[in-house]
Parts: sequence; C-alpha cells; structure tokens
Amino acid sequence: MKNLIIALLLLCVNLNSDEIKMPKTTNLTFQKECKSCHMAFQPTLLNSNSWIKVMDNLKEHFGTDASLDQQETKIIKDYLVNNSKNNIKNVTNEIYITKLPWFTRQHRRISEKTIAHPSIKTLSNCVACHKNAEKGNYDEDEIKIPGKSWSNR
Ligand code: HEC
Ligand code: HEC
Repeated sequence: MKNLIIALLLLCVNLNSDEIKMPKTTNLTFQKECKSCHMAFQPTLLNSNSWIKVMDNLKEHFGTDASLDQQETKIIKDYLVNNSKNNIKNVTNEIYITKLPWFTRQHRRISEKTIAHPSIKTLSNCVACHKNAEKGNYDEDEIKIPGKSWSNR
C-alpha cells in the first residue's frame, strides 16, 4: 500500500506539464545539427508525434531547409522521440512549442513591445530571457527579460 501511494505521488509529479527538465541523455548529433539556427530545444518540449512531424519534414522546416542525411536524421529522430514528453496537452500535434497551451499561459503577460526588443525578436528565442535554457533550466529566478528590470508580475 505504501509503495502504491509513493508510485501515485511520483506519477503526479511527472504529470506536471510545466516541468521541462533536460533528459538524462544528451545526443551529440542533435547538439551539432539542431543548434545552428536556434538553441537545441529540449526533447521534453514536444510529444513524440510532433517530433516525428518535425523530423519527417526537415526540408520545409519553418520556411527554411534544415535537411540532413538519412543516418543523422534517424539518430536525431530516435533521440527526440525516445525522450519526448507525451503528457503535454497538444491534441493537434502542434510543432510550434510556442503555440502550446502551457507555453502561451506561461508567457501571456509578455507584451508585443517587450518581444520587439532587438535581443529578443521572437518568443522562440528562449535564451534571450532564460539564460540557462540550453541546460534545460527555466527556473523563474533565472529569468532576465532584456530591456526590463524583471518582476514576476
Ligand atoms: C537552417 C536553420 C535551422 C536549422 C538547422 C534547424 N532549425 Fe528549427 N527552426 C528554424 C526556424 C527559422 C524556426 C522558426 C522560428 C520562429 O518561428 O521564430 C525553427 C523552429 C523550430 C521549432 C519550433 C520552435 C518554436 O518556436 O516553437 C522546433 C521544435 C525546431 N525548430 C526543431 C529543430 C530541430 C529538431 C532541428 C535539427 C534537426 C532544427 N530545428 C534545425 C531553423 C532551423
Ligand atoms: C521574452 C522573454 C521570454 C522568452 C523569449 C521565453 N520565455 Fe519562458 N518565461 C518567461 C517569463 C517572464 C516566465 C515566467 C512567467 C511567470 O511566472 O509569470 C517564463 C516561464 C517559462 C516556463 C515556466 C517556468 C516555471 O518554473 O514556472 C518555462 C518552462 C519556459 N518559460 C520555457 C520557455 C521556452 C522553452 C522558451 C523558448 C521556446 C521560452 N520560455 C521563451 C520569459 C520568456
């Protein structure tokens, strides 16, 4: 009984959709190929179906060509799928992290004017405000919004 309760508690912790931890493994091919145009977004930011969509269509990747050879594509796809997070709310298998409900909820207070700052430009630019985003650290006390003295409200 005690073990069951502990298991249930752990499950609840895992279901917290705002928890975007870096997976235990990292993947060198992914690090090499997916962070030349933007940061290497953590696999836990999308579900497996969304990653499959992204990886099956690198030729038309958000208006640019990010295609790789078959072998690299497979390595990265396997890595992303195996480390994806399938309990995030994403019924349409959206491939924009920045369009997911949890994301828009967390970032709803940030104005267009703030985003227009030359060192931000787009909400996809996680590292502009989350200085340790590349390490998978999005903690509130690590946030610094360019052009603003950060306050949580
Ligand atoms: C040639 C440049 C380039 C490369 C290489 C590239 N991307 Fe992208 N990626 C983009 C652009 C441009 C966007 C759109 C950003 C925007 O809308 O502001 C984007 C957006 C994304 C998004 C959505 C982010 C959001 O705003 O929610 C994901 C996920 C993504 N890329 C994954 C990958 C993966 C995985 C790889 C490696 C296989 C990769 N990208 C390699 C250019 C690139
Ligand atoms: C313009 C600055 C800015 C950008 C760009 C930005 N964020 Fe945020 N983010 C924030 C702020 C501010 C909060 C805190 C919201 C609050 O607590 O009211 C936040 C909250 C979060 C949280 C929740 C943190 C917690 O502990 O509650 C996560 C996860 C997160 N952001 C991920 C991302 C990711 C992933 C990207 C890029 C795809 C991104 N953010 C881009 C400013 C930004």
